[in-house]
Amino acid sequence: MADDSDGNANGDAGDPNLDLADARDRDAERALAGVAREFTTPPDTYYVDGNSLGPLSDGAAAGIERVVEEWRTLGIDGWTAGEPPWVEFGERIGDRLAPLLGAQGREVVAANSTTVNIHALVGTFLDACDADEPTVLVDELNFPTDRYAVVGQLEARGLDPADCLKVVASPDQRIVGENDIEAAIDVEDPDLVFLPSVLYKSGQRLDVERITSYAKDAGAYVGWDLAHSVGIVPHHLDEHGVDFAVWCGYKYLNGGPGTLAGLYVNERHFDLSPALPGWWGNDPDTRFDLEPVHDPAPGAARHQIGTVPVLSAASLHGALSVYDDVEMRDVRADSLALTDYLVDLVDAYFEDVTVGTPREHSRRGGHVALEHPDADRVSQALKDRGVVVDYRPPNVIRVCPNPFYVTHEDVWHVAAELHDILDSDAHEAYTARSGGVT
Ligand SMILES: Cc1ncc(COP(=O)(O)O)c(C=O)c1O
Repeated sequence: MADDSDGNANGDAGDPNLDLADARDRDAERALAGVAREFTTPPDTYYVDGNSLGPLSDGAAAGIERVVEEWRTLGIDGWTAGEPPWVEFGERIGDRLAPLLGAQGREVVAANSTTVNIHALVGTFLDACDADEPTVLVDELNFPTDRYAVVGQLEARGLDPADCLKVVASPDQRIVGENDIEAAIDVEDPDLVFLPSVLYKSGQRLDVERITSYAKDAGAYVGWDLAHSVGIVPHHLDEHGVDFAVWCGYKYLNGGPGTLAGLYVNERHFDLSPALPGWWGNDPDTRFDLEPVHDPAPGAARHQIGTVPVLSAASLHGALSVYDDVEMRDVRADSLALTDYLVDLVDAYFEDVTVGTPREHSRRGGHVALEHPDADRVSQALKDRGVVVDYRPPNVIRVCPNPFYVTHEDVWHVAAELHDILDSDAHEAYTARSGGVT
């Protein structure tokens, strides 16, 4: 692929759909075309790593600045006189997130980190199981913290993970089959099923509706880690009867590094006692009575633990304003158009790169896994050329064209840089690293 001066750019004149002018035409059609103005990505970059850390938005910056001003002028009174009152930030963010999740506001709260929320809700639902030795079904490819937290909660109840943790295998280490999950439910008869909606590495999207229905018919509670789907894939948690869910605030929601995570508890379960009780999950009406016995808040809010981190909440609350003027179905349509475009470019122009993400729209999240035997060094070369991707061992380069701030034209340039690196073996100048990298 080469960018010729008149913009009719590619090495294959036989495929007019893959030229740069075509990319620009496609951008003109996008529902989210105007939203990019609200984001700031690092200078001189193509920022395709928003599934790891979303960039700064005007809304997030304004949210932080407002709280700084409230802190300056109100001091401690910001807890009640802030806008919103700081004490309510978790619930008010929950209200803003509920439409993205297909949930009611009181079923959603921003709180803690994702890992802590997994501990909190897996623990809560384990305690609600009838079985003496409840079992939990997870998948082999889930993000490691999910497994650590489930194992931790089993062990905290004196349960042996060797007996109580059941794992759905992935023979190709890329995809987890819905059929395999259902077969495992049949064989293992788990009390709790906890799975990712989108696999963090391959970008495979699981069928939340189908698995939830199957597991519930088998008598299990069903929880989902939505870290890689919230904000980019529409959800219908109430309609699908999901029992609980957790997610990160710093990925597609663009809430800022390390910002608050979120959790959902279906209203059927509002009576469950939190496994990790804390005063922030106490009923706000009695919280400051400071009684020794926990009095759980109504709704999902009872699973908050400690004081809400207000600066972090402010950036997440502000970042969510980009959803005020867009429909999730348009976000999804634009996201699929961009990932389709990337997949088409890779198929057309690359011999040594394999798309590890399923081709079917219904099985794809918001990022694409490009597999290459030298993915680590290639990803370093890309970053040095301003293409912000990330590498996941052993062979995956994740590319996330988030339609809020990435265009088809950007994707074309990402592909062009990748092509140039592989063509010139530029990645061979780099040293492979041994482990996790951002
Ligand atoms: C699927 C998934 N779950 C959980 C986490 C971790 O969340 P946290 O570090 O906020 O606890 C991540 C982080 O990338 C993730 O990808």
